[in-house]
Amino acid sequence: MKTTDKIRRSGLPIPFPDAPFLTRVFSPAGPATPCVTESRGARVISIPGRYSVTQIVEGPRALVLADVGSVSDIPLVERAAEWVGKPVGLVVPTHLHFDHIMGVDEAARRFGAAVALGELANTLVDEERKPRPPIFKTLKHFFVPWFWQGLPLFSREDIPGGLAFGFPWSRNPFTMRGPLLQTGKPVPMLEGWVTLHTPGHTDESICIYHPRSGFLVAGDTVRNYQGGEWNPIITDHAMYRDTIFRLLPLPVRAVFPGHGPVLTGERLLGRLRPFDSGAA
Ligand SMILES: [Fe+2]
Repeated sequence: MKTTDKIRRSGLPIPFPDAPFLTRVFSPAGPATPCVTESRGARVISIPGRYSVTQIVEGPRALVLADVGSVSDIPLVERAAEWVGKPVGLVVPTHLHFDHIMGVDEAARRFGAAVALGELANTLVDEERKPRPPIFKTLKHFFVPWFWQGLPLFSREDIPGGLAFGFPWSRNPFTMRGPLLQTGKPVPMLEGWVTLHTPGHTDESICIYHPRSGFLVAGDTVRNYQGGEWNPIITDHAMYRDTIFRLLPLPVRAVFPGHGPVLTGERLLGRLRPFDSGAA
C-alpha cells in the first residue's frame, strides 16, 4: 500500500452494475460509486450493494469488510478482494439492521473469515436479545431514502436465511464468530484503526476510525443521501447527542457512510446536516 498525504480517490478496474435508475435520477447526493480512497497509510474500497455499501478496509495482510447487506452483494465483494489480492479475514457489522447484515454470516462462511462484533452487539447476540428498535416517529426518515436507493426488493438469496438477521424479530444467529471489537481498542487485522462505540442510531452502533488519515467508517451513524447528514433515524436521542459531541472534535477527513457516496474534506463532521435534537 502506498503512503500518500493527500486523499486520493480512484475507480476500480472491475465492471460493476449501474446504480438503480431511481438513485441516479432522484437521490440528491447521487449514487454511491465503487471506488478506492487512500491517504496516510489507510485504504478503503467502497462497494455499493443492494441495500447498503460494503466498505472494505485494507490491513497489512488481510481485508476487513464493514457490513455486507445482502448475500447477493458477495460476488462483487469477492471480485474487489481478488483485485486487491488479499484474503478477507474479518466481517464487521457496524450495527444489527437488516440492510447491513443479511449477507454478513454468509460472506464470512464463503471467505473463511470470522464475524467480529462490537461489545454491545456481542452481548445482544450471545444473550439472544433483540436490539432496541428505533423511535417510531423517526422511521419516517426511512421511506424516501429507500426510494432514493432504488426501492430494492429482497433478493431471493436473502430469503429465508437472511431474514433471521436484522429485523425486529431477529436474534441474529451469527455462526462464524470471531474476535470481539472492544471500544477504543485496535481493530484486529488492521493497522492503526480503532473501534468507537457510537450509540444513537442504534444502541450497538460502532464506527471504525483511523486517526492518522482521519478516515471514519461510519455505518449508519452518518449517511449521505443529501450531501452528508447525521442519521435522522434514532433509537436514543440523548445517546446520539453524546456520540456527536464525542465525534465532532475528531479531525475526520473522509467518511465512509453505510448509504451514499464517500464524503471527503477537512473538518468534515462539522459540515454535516445537523442532528434533529428537537425531535426527542
Ligand atoms: Fe441502520
